[in-house]
Amino acid sequence: MGFNLRNRSFLTLQDFDPRDIRYLLDLASELKRSKAAGTEHPRLKGKNVALIFEKSSTRTRCAFEVAMHDQGGHVTYLDAAGSHIGRTESLKDTARVLGRLFDGIEYRGFHQAAVEELARFSHVPIWNGLTDESHPTQILADLLTMGEFGERPLHELSFCYLGDARFNMGSSLLIGGTKMGMDVRIAAPSALQPPDTLVSEMRELAKRTGARITIETDPLKAVAGADFLYTDVWVSMGEPDEVWKQRIDQLLPYRVTSALMHATGKPRTRFMHCLPSFHNLDTEVGRQLHQQYGLAEGEVTDEVFESDASVVFTQAENRMHTIKAVLVATLA
Ligand code: CP
Ligand code: NVA
Repeated sequence: MGFNLRNRSFLTLQDFDPRDIRYLLDLASELKRSKAAGTEHPRLKGKNVALIFEKSSTRTRCAFEVAMHDQGGHVTYLDAAGSHIGRTESLKDTARVLGRLFDGIEYRGFHQAAVEELARFSHVPIWNGLTDESHPTQILADLLTMGEFGERPLHELSFCYLGDARFNMGSSLLIGGTKMGMDVRIAAPSALQPPDTLVSEMRELAKRTGARITIETDPLKAVAGADFLYTDVWVSMGEPDEVWKQRIDQLLPYRVTSALMHATGKPRTRFMHCLPSFHNLDTEVGRQLHQQYGLAEGEVTDEVFESDASVVFTQAENRMHTIKAVLVATLA
């Protein structure tokens, strides 16, 4: 059995092979069912985990907290201002301190090197809660959601990610979809496509998993036949506001609209988004962008976001079930 994930870190999707991912998805489904039925068995009693967030979060933080509480464990939340990390204490020293106190550590920050350093020096499992390069726990939730709505095994499903594909979400979806043997399409302008080295690595892996990989600049071509259209914000956390102007010019043709949903040619294409999303003027940033650039919606239209095809809130819920699966598999 390849399923002993105990004490394993989850720094990138590369850490887990397809069998491990399948196991985590099945465990997440089982945990989801048992929570709904009121029969969940707490397997993390007496376990303590630290949640370090150097960037803000709604879903990831809450998913870790609720998952730990449901399983009988405890959490300590450290935000960017609430600890010495990086200012008076190095990450290496922090790792060695927290490793003595906690059974595992979630980390959200900027560079992938930071989660790697935590893993090297803490000697407890480290879970990547998002870096610039990678958002692996998000992808588990996305795969679970695609499995739930796709009504076919993952390797028979196709999705198209549209937008900034060289950042965390584009790269991680490419890896996750390839590992699970899916039909993976990326629609992005050349400057925002995933790194060449990653694409070559995934094309090699695809030979073994049966995945099909299409990297396209034409959004209409890319979405044809797709079961899911997936997008993300055009400017990610940590990027300077000044990039908005250029990003809007680059990505406007990739906005998910009703016309693009119809262009898949499939009557039941679903819309996915990791959230948060700029789809109306109900947020401060939304209003600011409207004022500055005349943009009333960003990567997706409000019509698509609010449509029956949108599965974004199931995705958000599934963050918790899949993160719980990771916690149980690596700690219990
Ligand atoms: N999707 C996601 O990671 O959401 P948060 O930033 O709210 O955690
Ligand atoms: N690409 C986004 C994902 C948010 C969940 C960001 O890094 O801000």
